[in-house]
Amino acid sequence: MDVNIGISEQNRLAISEGLARMLADTYALYLKTQNFHWNVRGEQFYSLHLLFEKQYQEMAEAVDVVAERIRALGFYVDASFSAFKKLTLVKEEEKVLNSKEMLQGLLQGHEVLIQWARKVAEIADNERDFATVDMIGRRLGEHEKMAWFLRSHL
Ligand SMILES: [Fe+2]
Repeated sequence: MDVNIGISEQNRLAISEGLARMLADTYALYLKTQNFHWNVRGEQFYSLHLLFEKQYQEMAEAVDVVAERIRALGFYVDASFSAFKKLTLVKEEEKVLNSKEMLQGLLQGHEVLIQWARKVAEIADNERDFATVDMIGRRLGEHEKMAWFLRSHL
């Protein structure tokens, strides 16, 4: 059935494509944070192990919110590792880093995501898609807080 919510299909598609990258970035950052939760070592081991856990759990909830917004706009969610890898700009880490490099890597991931999400919110705002603007606003608040926590260790 048609999605008749006062936003044209073309505009809903543009917003959904923006959200798809946001979803891929969130998923990539979720996995990267969990990777570091498992592999972190050093003097700050326990506090970073817990901090990373708190952050990946937050993002595990968030992917659902972002993906379901794409569905509400009338499009399917392409949810596979290969689809996410194609879309995300969050860098994958294959070697084991020290704790400072982990903090820097995660911070950079949040910054990449934040900057993209802000653009998607701008597009959504232009199309009067206030539900997406609201959802992204809340996601920005969470990512900016996570970035602050990471930055405060550096
Ligand atoms: Fe754990």
